[in-house]
Amino acid sequence: MADKIKIALQPLNVTLEVAPGTPLQDVLHAYGVEFPCGGQGRCRGCRIEVTQGNLPPTQQEREILSDTDLAAGIRLACRNHAHTDITLRVAQWDAVILAEHAEFAMEPREGLGIAIDLGTTTIVAQLLDLSTGHVLGVRTASNPQASHGADLITRLLFADTSEGYAEITGLLHKRLFQLINEILEASGREKEVLDSIVVAGNSAMHHFMSGLPTGTLARAPFEPLDGDLQQRTAMELGWNLLGNPPVRILPCLGGLVGGDILAGLLATEMGDASELVGLVDLGTNGEIAFGTRERILCTSTAAGPAFEGAKIGMGMQARRGAISEVHVEAGRLLPHVLGGGRARGICGSGLVDAVAGGLDLGLVEPSGRLKDGAPRLELLPPVHLTQADIRELQLAKGAIAAGIHVLLSRFGAKAGDVTRVYLAGAFGNYIRIASARRIGLLHFPEERIQAAGNTSLMGAKIALFAPKGADLDYRALRAKISNVGLATDPSFQEVFIQETRFPEA
Ligand code: FES
Repeated sequence: MADKIKIALQPLNVTLEVAPGTPLQDVLHAYGVEFPCGGQGRCRGCRIEVTQGNLPPTQQEREILSDTDLAAGIRLACRNHAHTDITLRVAQWDAVILAEHAEFAMEPREGLGIAIDLGTTTIVAQLLDLSTGHVLGVRTASNPQASHGADLITRLLFADTSEGYAEITGLLHKRLFQLINEILEASGREKEVLDSIVVAGNSAMHHFMSGLPTGTLARAPFEPLDGDLQQRTAMELGWNLLGNPPVRILPCLGGLVGGDILAGLLATEMGDASELVGLVDLGTNGEIAFGTRERILCTSTAAGPAFEGAKIGMGMQARRGAISEVHVEAGRLLPHVLGGGRARGICGSGLVDAVAGGLDLGLVEPSGRLKDGAPRLELLPPVHLTQADIRELQLAKGAIAAGIHVLLSRFGAKAGDVTRVYLAGAFGNYIRIASARRIGLLHFPEERIQAAGNTSLMGAKIALFAPKGADLDYRALRAKISNVGLATDPSFQEVFIQETRFPEA
């Protein structure tokens, strides 16, 4: 048997070499494909079409997909593994957003646009045909600022000197220019003029992108200097692009809650909700919004990057070799390694699963202490969790749960009063909801929690497709939104301490 097989991805013109038996979910996740139900085989959102080669349907695919779909080569990326060379089309990249089918206001127009989700850890960019809504290319990259700190506050402090600021903004602008060029070249569109580029990111990314000073974000009261929509030209950012297209950076909502959450509100239509709904983005910086069409409250918590694998001894991002799931079977923890093979570390979803499983088996106590003072929780050699790792998770989940509690209490509401909670971000896609509830990260009824995918990118696309003359500063929506500073909330500290504990069985 060959030790490598080829997977060609269309319409990206990309061919990858992977080990036979590699789960397609692991491969496609790196290319920005969303797994809306977290890869549980329930939503069909990860549909792919096999255009060349042989990919026999699994039993679960036979149960979920129609005979017509199966005969047409449709499969689910989350339910299949590649064993031989294949060519795939990803249905998500073909999503047509024609005017009559649009879930939001848009006017098809000629030209190409780029939507960018500028995350603290990861950047995702999509090239779109503005006349059809087709995705012509996707690229993901690490945020190069990570070399100056995994979390935002460390980066903001680094940017406090003019040399530091120039360095950290320069890194970002350079990486984005590289990403834009790669995406244009891979799709064969490098000779075409871009209509516009829309960027959604938190307040720090908004300021770094726009070239605005970040001093006010680094210290109390942690407010943006200018949170409005910022428009620059490509040339002003040092990007030599044909036609010098405009680059629009979506406005902030206050504090470190930026255009990424505004984009999330657009994607989830929270501004039109008649009942209380929420959006929780479990990225490097935990950002939370709850509200209705009358009023929306948002906040950000210093959850730290534990959910993205940082600050955990053997933590890593959700890449090949990461323990991404841990099940409990026959009284033991059973870890799953992304891409198969030897475990190299553990990512956020694996961490939450491992501790949830440890709690169920009595290996971790509700206080967070390892049973009998054990030095570590063994997973798959050499990967394990230490007592310090579990404490780090307690701090992160405590900050998020307390932030949610504070916002809900301002509505006079409890978790059971919320009709729907959207989990945004890649981690939100992968985390098992039962495990998130088991460790007390989320207290909502399971059936009301829904993975919403990359809502920041979706919102950036909504802004990219907005009709000409639309208010991209979203003043009417922003007028309903208030930012809640947790540091000054009298109840936050007490709730935070309570929420660092894990629930009893
Ligand atoms: S069915 Fe594959 S992600 Fe939902």
